[in-house]
Amino acid sequence: MGSFSLFLVVVLSLFTSYAVCQFEEFISIDCGGTSNYTDPSTGLAWISDSGFMENGKSVEVENPNGNKVQYQKRRDFPIDSRKHCYTLNTEERRRYLVRATFQYGSLENGDTYPQFQLYLDATKWATVSIYEASRIYVKEMIFRAPSDSIDVCLCCATTGSPFMSTLELRPLNLSMYATDFEDNFFLKVAARINFGAPSEDAVRYPDDPYDRIWDSDLIRRQNYLVGVATGTERINTTNNIQVGTREYPPVKVMQTAVVGTEGVLSYRLNLEDFPGDARAYAYFAEIENLGKNETRKFKLEQPFIADYSNAVVNIAENANGSYTLYEPSYMNVSLQFVLSFSFRRTRDSSRGPLLNALEISKYVQIAPKTDRQDSNVVNAIGSLSSDIVLERKGDPCVPTPWEWVNCSTNTPPRITKINLSRRNVKGEIPNELKNMEALTELWLDGNLLTGQLPDMSNLINLKIVHLENNKLTGPLPSYLGSLPSLQALFIQNNSFNGEIPAGLLSAKIIFNYDNNPGLHRGNKKHFKLMLAISIGVLVILLILFLASLVLLCNLRRKTSQQKRDENGISGSKPLTGSSFLRGGSLMDEGTAYYIALSELKEATNDFSKKIGKGSFGSVYYGKMRDGKEIAVKTMTDPSSHGNQQFVNEVALLSRIHHRNLVPLIGYCEEEYQHILVYEYMHNGTLRDHIHDCSTEMKLDWLARLRIAEDAAKGLEYLHTGCNPSIIHRDVKTSNILLDINMRAKVSDFGLSRLAEEDLTHISSVARGTVGYLDPEYYANQQLTEKSDVYSFGVVLLELISGRKPVSIEDYGPEMNIVHWARSLIRKGDVISIMDPSLVSHVKTESIWRVAEIAMQCVEQHGASRPRMQEVILAIQDASKIEKGTENQLKLSSSGSSKPQSSRKTLLTSFLEIESPDLSNSCLPSAR
Ligand SMILES: *[C@@H]1O[C@H](CO)[C@@H](O)[C@H](O)[C@H]1NC(C)=O
Ligand SMILES: *[C@@H]1O[C@H](CO)[C@@H](O)[C@H](O)[C@H]1NC(C)=O
Repeated sequence: MGSFSLFLVVVLSLFTSYAVCQFEEFISIDCGGTSNYTDPSTGLAWISDSGFMENGKSVEVENPNGNKVQYQKRRDFPIDSRKHCYTLNTEERRRYLVRATFQYGSLENGDTYPQFQLYLDATKWATVSIYEASRIYVKEMIFRAPSDSIDVCLCCATTGSPFMSTLELRPLNLSMYATDFEDNFFLKVAARINFGAPSEDAVRYPDDPYDRIWDSDLIRRQNYLVGVATGTERINTTNNIQVGTREYPPVKVMQTAVVGTEGVLSYRLNLEDFPGDARAYAYFAEIENLGKNETRKFKLEQPFIADYSNAVVNIAENANGSYTLYEPSYMNVSLQFVLSFSFRRTRDSSRGPLLNALEISKYVQIAPKTDRQDSNVVNAIGSLSSDIVLERKGDPCVPTPWEWVNCSTNTPPRITKINLSRRNVKGEIPNELKNMEALTELWLDGNLLTGQLPDMSNLINLKIVHLENNKLTGPLPSYLGSLPSLQALFIQNNSFNGEIPAGLLSAKIIFNYDNNPGLHRGNKKHFKLMLAISIGVLVILLILFLASLVLLCNLRRKTSQQKRDENGISGSKPLTGSSFLRGGSLMDEGTAYYIALSELKEATNDFSKKIGKGSFGSVYYGKMRDGKEIAVKTMTDPSSHGNQQFVNEVALLSRIHHRNLVPLIGYCEEEYQHILVYEYMHNGTLRDHIHDCSTEMKLDWLARLRIAEDAAKGLEYLHTGCNPSIIHRDVKTSNILLDINMRAKVSDFGLSRLAEEDLTHISSVARGTVGYLDPEYYANQQLTEKSDVYSFGVVLLELISGRKPVSIEDYGPEMNIVHWARSLIRKGDVISIMDPSLVSHVKTESIWRVAEIAMQCVEQHGASRPRMQEVILAIQDASKIEKGTENQLKLSSSGSSKPQSSRKTLLTSFLEIESPDLSNSCLPSAR
């Protein structure tokens, strides 16, 4: 007896110390919280994230759920193209449960409920869509730690701003939740249900030492857990249950169950994010006292799973006794979004089936993170600057890249560009740089870098290297001269010394090494050879130069003569920008080149085939000698665009390359002509396709969505991919061109001004087209990217409706498409704005998605409009819905069976905030 109680004491103390141990390893973060505290109801210690999350701000939650401290505040993150990450320390290869929860609270005036993406490392975890103020949305993932830390990141908001309420990390023990696939898959928890629960409260810590959340089967959110068979009864026991099998469900959960007293137990539930492959567990324990001749035997009837469905469950036998856990599970079973399952008593059984708990998780394929070596190097370089702590969270490339790196689209992604110009980087460039084989550009100029150049001989893709204005020392290694892709090397204002490798002095490479007192050119022999070549080249250049000078002078004389005649202004500014272009150097990264007027005359057959009218003049079709088809845009009003400006614009244009922007091939400035030569787009303008009745093929909805997405990507690139960013200022359907494959490209951005140019954002003339012009810009001349967003909103409305932006027949003189669409959409009537040719061929839900974002784009105030990135996501969403590939995630997380009506509510809620409408009746007659 004594030894038995001693044994008990030992067991008990083991258990308690083990429980305490679990507890101490928990990480419970109260996002947005302002202090650390212990939750009296659970005894869990919560920590505020204020010490380690610098991004975003703490926001008071209106109307929090109950009085849980964790939900009184949330952390809102800025709406931008970045990701915001919490890094959690883990023990490599240990299994964990990570849980993020979200409670938004009431909407403030003008808000919309947020929708954004949640990532675990590079793997998409969930789309968080908030539909109810007081509901706590819970996302859980079970994973085996791939390294010593894991990142939980928020990004890519489609509405509202990303936010989080709590983040919890719970280590698991031993082989809990081990799967055969854990090297490649995470387990996303879709359901964990406690059957026969005494109340609606979930069971969690301290009842579950691992703090899993076991939902009560009494909570029946719509479509969540329904379809109970008649005769289902709830049973319970106070006896202890042996649960030490594998997953250690809490005793409290196992002490309750449901029984199908008439022989059947059946349920239906929705599985978020399914169809998919699942890991499924059933938890059984016999908690009724069966009579001597009684048996409980049953089979899984539905879903039919070969190898399993014929197996007869006899809990007490399977578990070797009553009050003991029996835990059959399915390692990999394919399940639908709606799971109907049922157990049926076998004929020779006296009792009906019994079920204590159920757990289902989806296998989520782990997405690759950035190449580890690349990642290590950029982290090492980044850590040399105290300026970029915030821009160094999470993975460098996925889901969105850090602002200062560019990434390839490979799997795993590789880093192609590091841009840390003037970012206060101190110390030596890490030697590991040599591992970044995919690197094409390295910008580290204007920092405080010291030491020698690291080995870069492996970097065969390296094109551009900026190391100027640092304190680098040592020799220039000879391999620099033979890096196969090197086009430009800037090392001026450093303290390099020794001989310059011969290859660097070739004409192919732009090489600036000024102000390195210790550097000198190579020895005589090389020098002579180089000299001979250089002289040869120079002589040729000189001849060319003289020739062009003569030509230029002639031209200049004519032009200035002309100007003097016209304006009484003498002389004109020197053409400083042109050398920059004509040097054919890499600075203009592009390929735009000078094309002589005579050549253009020949190509266009003396400007005979006019194909359109651009903003400043006519556009002609042409075909170059090499067969390339071109569109030649002439500008008939050169006086309003001086030479200097023209050259600047060409310089700007030729630096911009994007799949969704019409590429500039060349330019010409001769006599009074300013001409830009673009690639010819075979399928004309979007305007013709929508509004020109003679076009035979009407665009279907998917084609329109694809065009919208392409054009949006082009604009997004102008806004965010160019430095300085560019505002198009004249977005309209006639500036969206379609190539031979019907892919859209944005044109006419050449005359967009650099956003930087007017730093005050005040410009003298409102440029733009009636019907597309941002009323806010028109009213106060404040030019931002959001003006383009407004115009793009109008384009979206045209795509939906097939109507023109202004039309007296359609809307009367006082109205335009925005007023018209807004008033109908506000009534929830999207059918009436749809192009008649679309009605009944499309999913209304998909139209709604676009209508919704279009309405946000044409919001009165720029600040309330989305960024192009969000617009793109919405369009992609709409395509998915239309194609039917949209999974039913939204359905389930909304907890509503009528997503469309909830959308309408969402939409109406933001339409309710009305601001004085400037665009009404005071449309400018611009141009
Ligand atoms: C347990 O079951 C009994 C009936 O068997 C019932 O009266 C009691 O309320 C149940 N207790 C709980 C906590 O569900
Ligand atoms: C589960 O099985 C299916 C079909 O047999 C297979 O395609 C899938 O890859 C498996 N899932 C996992 C996570 O291995």
